[in-house]
Amino acid sequence: MKIKGKHFQTIWLSEESDEIVQAIDQRKLPFVFEILDLATVTDVYNAIRDMAVRGAPLIGITGAYGIYLALLAYNGNKLNNYLDEVASYLKSSRPTAVNLAFAIDEVVKTCRNSTIKDAVSKALKKTTELKEKEVEYCSRIGNHGLALIEGIYKEKKRPVNVLTHCNAGWLACIDWGTATAPVYKASQKGIPVHVWVDETRPRNQGARLTAFELAEEGIPHTIIPDNTGGHLMQHGEVDLVIVGSDRTTVSGDVANKIGTYLKALAAHDNQIPFYVALPSSSIDWGITDGMSEIPIEQRDPSEVGFIEGWAKNQIISVRLTPEKSKTANYGFDVTPARLVTGLITEKGICKADKKSITTLFPEKKYLWQK
Ligand code: MRU
Repeated sequence: MKIKGKHFQTIWLSEESDEIVQAIDQRKLPFVFEILDLATVTDVYNAIRDMAVRGAPLIGITGAYGIYLALLAYNGNKLNNYLDEVASYLKSSRPTAVNLAFAIDEVVKTCRNSTIKDAVSKALKKTTELKEKEVEYCSRIGNHGLALIEGIYKEKKRPVNVLTHCNAGWLACIDWGTATAPVYKASQKGIPVHVWVDETRPRNQGARLTAFELAEEGIPHTIIPDNTGGHLMQHGEVDLVIVGSDRTTVSGDVANKIGTYLKALAAHDNQIPFYVALPSSSIDWGITDGMSEIPIEQRDPSEVGFIEGWAKNQIISVRLTPEKSKTANYGFDVTPARLVTGLITEKGICKADKKSITTLFPEKKYLWQK
């Protein structure tokens, strides 16, 4: 999608050197647009852990590039062991999004039992393929979700109000986004859409990133404090909720940014459709109980105690809370499948239950039957 009218993706191989990966530094948006160079596997680990890159599909592809960069630096004689070590190091950077493990495992699988020279070129080829697939899948998610927005527009004959939480936009992916892709596709088709953007404390990915990308695309939107959605729903101001997912079980439970569950409860109470947009790389085919089986990341409590903003031409961080008060920082929550109206995937829309998900993805049978 566009920044200042120029098309960007979130991550790419440098044009100057094929030993450097470049990514948009999301810690600085919307105030400063800066590109980060990733030259080593440690750079990749730090970029994911510190959330310079974030969002489930994007950390997956960044992790895949991490394997490639690690191979460039390899000079030992036990390649398979090295691949395993690097893979588990990278996977430990953030625990909740399954895309990270998925993409890393895909790259490692293709590189095993190769010479180092072959492994390097296979890793880059596979990463590029995975990246292109994510773009294609997000575009398809957009087309499927567009039908929902179009249906509401035809019925209500006024701009469609979509509420979203966190940033499940193109910045969280490679391009298009998941939750925002249907909005972009609708807008491109001339359907008027307005987005309610949850600010998404504590890191404010909604206020800083979703709002930024919608503004750059010229999509009407309004940033709201996280606790506003229920009120808007009670007053008919929300037609549809679309969020992303960091990990969805094969039975349809959805882990997404903390606060998603409360939006799902409010949507359910007000009979408002609550959809989750996700590529199949966000489905964990091996688990069925989101509450007990999805690891929930706990981040540095100081992210709650302090807030970042723009003052005197720089990003500053200021204290919000009393110094003597404790803070807790759970990164994600799990929305049970019963609160999810449907999943918008690259293959179409399905119910959030095992039968519908597995019927849509029969080729994954070997994974859920393990
Ligand atoms: O902690 P973050 O910013 O990585 O969390 C991102 C989200 O929760 C997104 O909604 C999710 O990754 C889906 S991205 C298409």
